[in-house]
Amino acid sequence: MKKINIGNGAVSASEIALGCMRINALSKTDASSLINTAIESGINFFDHADIYGGGKSEEVFADAFNMTPSNREKFILQSKCGIRKGYFDFSKEHILNSVDGSLKRLKTDYIDILLLHRPDTLMQPEEVAEAFSILQKSGKVKHFGVSNQNPMQIELLSKYLKNKLIINQLQFSITNTGIIDSGLNVNMKIDPSIVRDGSILEYCRLKDISIQAWSPFQYGFFEGVFLDNDKFPELNTKINEIAAIKGVTNSAIAIAWILRHPAKIQPIVGTTNPKRLKDICAASGVELTRQEWYEIYMAAGNKLP
Ligand SMILES: NC(=O)c1ccc[n+]([C@@H]2O[C@H](COP(=O)([O-])OP(=O)(O)OC[C@H]3O[C@@H](n4cnc5c(N)ncnc54)[C@H](OP(=O)(O)O)[C@@H]3O)[C@@H](O)[C@H]2O)c1
Repeated sequence: MKKINIGNGAVSASEIALGCMRINALSKTDASSLINTAIESGINFFDHADIYGGGKSEEVFADAFNMTPSNREKFILQSKCGIRKGYFDFSKEHILNSVDGSLKRLKTDYIDILLLHRPDTLMQPEEVAEAFSILQKSGKVKHFGVSNQNPMQIELLSKYLKNKLIINQLQFSITNTGIIDSGLNVNMKIDPSIVRDGSILEYCRLKDISIQAWSPFQYGFFEGVFLDNDKFPELNTKINEIAAIKGVTNSAIAIAWILRHPAKIQPIVGTTNPKRLKDICAASGVELTRQEWYEIYMAAGNKLP
């Protein structure tokens, strides 16, 4: 598994990460099998959030992972805060409480990276800055980032933060290409030309903020998986054709497509199936050609100008 540098060398991470949103449904044995497969495949990065499974995902992970101090040091644990039942909350009090909850559930005394999960328009950046300073000084959090934020939101926060934001986690997959569409269709009188995210891809690259791709196999907003799905016949034909050429599964091609982008986007894969995870990790050894990458983009229904 290839590594990527996050935050200008602050973190050396596997280029594919395991997302733990769905592991609350697993038994300890099944969760151990998934985590061990991840580790054997070269994954050293695990993505969590305080809300996954209502907190159960972090608990299941800690039990299955065998959270001893020496085990803990070898891996990067990321968690998120800021989503509450029915609203968003970036208050100092909530951020601090949320981290304490995650630390308890994860059975660890520090989180490597804390992300603000989804923008809270009632945010007061001074409060966030205070919370982050307390967390860093106490050693509870090493690095900070955001999720689902646009460039001006990151600029606003950064004006107040002492800590550099090193990650922005965004939805990105072959069927959710919002972050690249407008850049391919500049100044056209068509829908894909509309900049909905403030040019977040280019901004993150300029600022050395690593992008993580959440839900890399889903279409829409958790509507289902696009692979082997009759709704996407042309896309599946193209992916299967390239998978046969490369000698890997269609899942690996879907991830290789994300990895091929020079922004070094880190896919956060959410499978709970060890066999599938192993297949997905084969993506790290696949290099799509420029032509293959564009063919897949267009087979998903996109047009080039
Ligand atoms: N920042 C945010 O706002 C945000 C939002 C959502 C998610 N996330 C993060 O992103 C991670 C991934 O999200 P996700 O689980 O929605 O993403 P995903 O990897 O796109 O989807 C995984 C789901 O698809 C199923 N699946 C069916 N066929 C598959 C195939 N051929 N290949 C791969 N998966 C297949 C999996 O089932 P099996 O388990 O049976 O394989 C699993 O239920 C989460 O764990 C979380 O860490 C972040």
